[in-house]
Amino acid sequence: MAKSPPLKKLPKSKNLVASVSTVSLPQREVHNGHRGAVLWFTGLSASGKSTIANELEAALFKRGCHVFVLDGDRVRHGLCSDLDFSEASRHENIRRVGEVAKLFAEAGTICIAAFISPYRADRDLVRTIMAGGKFLEVYVNAPLKVCEQRDPKGLYAKARKHEIRNFTGISAPYEAPLKPEIELRTDKLNVAEAVDKILSNLQKTCGVPWKKS
Ligand code: ADX
Repeated sequence: MAKSPPLKKLPKSKNLVASVSTVSLPQREVHNGHRGAVLWFTGLSASGKSTIANELEAALFKRGCHVFVLDGDRVRHGLCSDLDFSEASRHENIRRVGEVAKLFAEAGTICIAAFISPYRADRDLVRTIMAGGKFLEVYVNAPLKVCEQRDPKGLYAKARKHEIRNFTGISAPYEAPLKPEIELRTDKLNVAEAVDKILSNLQKTCGVPWKKS
């Protein structure tokens, strides 16, 4: 399958000035007790992104962290309800969500963004708009065969019968990360193990308090 062209930055309107917050990011981070960041989950449908994202959110919340999950179900009903699963729409979906995730990180929150985000160029673009070290790519990696066996929403079966077009892994591409900060083999790890692996990274990178879940 052909590789996607890199996503271009959109032109900005003229006569804009940068806004300055009265509360600085360091002040917010001291107040919250940890740094803000974007944890970007990428992987096939049914690889476990949302399940791990939700468990991780609960574990971080229990530790007193400021955390929020963004996923397709949340944004495709509102912010991105005009977008389908064509290549152009997926680029735009990730561009918008990337900007929203960046705002969360600037507010000192740990934002967990769980999207298939199949194109490497889109994920790399989100990385470039984030301040250094604030973007952690998490590759939620399960083989296609395993995702297809799980098929919790019955979508792979529909895609095989050509009832869904452009389905990732079947009739649309997935470009795996080359150097993710974290890789989770969800065919080998259970959810608690996956969450612990991320928590131990966040302890070092974001100052999240350690507590065995
Ligand atoms: S992305 O490709 O633009 O990042 P996103 O994560 O928002 O996708 O949404 C993926 C979810 O939409 C899947 O988990 C699945 O439930 C649903 N979906 C519906 N149509 C498709 C499709 N053609 N390809 C992939 N997922 C689809």
